[in-house]
Amino acid sequence: MDGVEHLDELMVCRLSQDTGSVEPCTIVIFGASGDLTARKLIPALYHLHGQKLLPDPVRVIGVARREKTDESWRAELLEALQRFSRNQSVDAAQWDTFAANVHYCRGDIDDPKVYRGLSERLAGFGDERLRRNLLFYLAVSPSQFAPVTEQLHQAQLLRRDEEAPFWQRLVVEKPFGHDLASAQALNHELIRFAHEQQVFRIDHYLGKETVQNILMFRFSNAIFEQLWTRQSIDHVQITVSEELGVGQRGGYYEEAGALRDMVQNHLLQVLALIAMEPPVSLEAESIRDEKVKLLKSIRPFTPAGIARQVVRGQYFAGQHQGQALAGYRQEERVKPDSDVETFAALKLSIDNWRWSGVPFYLRTGKRLPLSASEVRVQFRPTPHVLFAAQCGSALDANALTLRLQPQEGISLRFNGKVPGTSTAVRPVRMHFSYDTEFGAYTPEAYERLLLEAMEGDATLFIRRDEVETAWGIVDAIRAGWSDAPLTNREFYAAGTWGPVAADDLLTQDGRSWRNPTPIA
Ligand code: BG6
Repeated sequence: MDGVEHLDELMVCRLSQDTGSVEPCTIVIFGASGDLTARKLIPALYHLHGQKLLPDPVRVIGVARREKTDESWRAELLEALQRFSRNQSVDAAQWDTFAANVHYCRGDIDDPKVYRGLSERLAGFGDERLRRNLLFYLAVSPSQFAPVTEQLHQAQLLRRDEEAPFWQRLVVEKPFGHDLASAQALNHELIRFAHEQQVFRIDHYLGKETVQNILMFRFSNAIFEQLWTRQSIDHVQITVSEELGVGQRGGYYEEAGALRDMVQNHLLQVLALIAMEPPVSLEAESIRDEKVKLLKSIRPFTPAGIARQVVRGQYFAGQHQGQALAGYRQEERVKPDSDVETFAALKLSIDNWRWSGVPFYLRTGKRLPLSASEVRVQFRPTPHVLFAAQCGSALDANALTLRLQPQEGISLRFNGKVPGTSTAVRPVRMHFSYDTEFGAYTPEAYERLLLEAMEGDATLFIRRDEVETAWGIVDAIRAGWSDAPLTNREFYAAGTWGPVAADDLLTQDGRSWRNPTPIA
């Protein structure tokens, strides 16, 4: 057994370097006092530092309005790191070497003085690469994306005409607009001050190991890729379920809802990776071209189609594992008669050669029984002879499940004989678990994304046409809902798998949802 494992290790094919390809640079975080900075960005940078993946030298500057010194900001960040760093304790010596390069710049981001202060800080860094290689991370409210970009441009910190080898890039958090028109307007604004190649739009799902693995799985395995067509596949289900409710984010969620918050970005991205054609190369643009092509081949929704193909839902008070859970309308900063959807389910048709006639069912919701993201590829049943003739629908069709989180892995479900003298058949499962196979530390999405942005590799970021195409799909659905109030079939008790209307969506096609289960 040992020998086999050793052999597998020898067969690793490395497509990229782990270290050394990132030029020294300064990362400037706007929104330094925010939750994202403390929970995700600084822990990710600290872990990259621990793995020696950050460039040397490197600087981090946080910009925010509150009065702080370098020292007080570092102390706050350390405290947050100790609270949020996942499965790794904080090494004091490592923190000290990291924190020595972390600085704070106070000011109102609407005020040009901040940008002058920033320039002065940068000028104080001797190394020219720290002054001219700049990654601006916009962890601020979306209405500030364009004004901050303009100010950076005016202060000559962000240049469209920068000469190689120097670079400046913008990393833009979601939500990128709230509909097609606002996303187009935002793109238009950003592109006035930066080239498209300088804009890195984040969808943190693309930083997840298992989401990246979709491409490897599909295009490095002949056995699966050959089955990846309408001839073999009956339908595909993509589920992103969340156990938590909206928590403190009621104010934001009232403006967003599940469709904008999850479907427009995470679910459509996963769909694009699952269904796209093989790209001509592994270059960012080739992969992004194929994703856009796929999104464009989704059959447009007609007003009549929306009623049959899209379901929304909202949780009311319920209970889960003996705990009483409030309904959405009782959450903080939510209107008591709100019709905002906390659940959405869609049936999509993809009008291309490969997928014609294969429905893709997508669903996501808050306050469901379990947090799990998975893609289930359901194969066609066997012909109605032999075992199928005798068992009918009791004979389970084969399925392949890609579990994106948690307990990341891939399962193949097929039928096997129940041992014994009687003749009986039942589904069995072959399971690959990341944890068992690799055991190692899986980096957080933001580690990978920050590193790629510093390297200038845009593969895991969303291109302008991608974000706009996705908004087009979501806008058509929203227009179809046209502010109609929710019906009884669209409410679901917190802690259950969504509204009855979502079950109807599949029942009308003679199918049913397969709910994720905890994997033993
Ligand atoms: C965010 C949404 O983009 O993704 C949240 O705004 C959601 O509402 C989160 O909870 C889910 O991300 P993850 O990584 O926990 O699956």
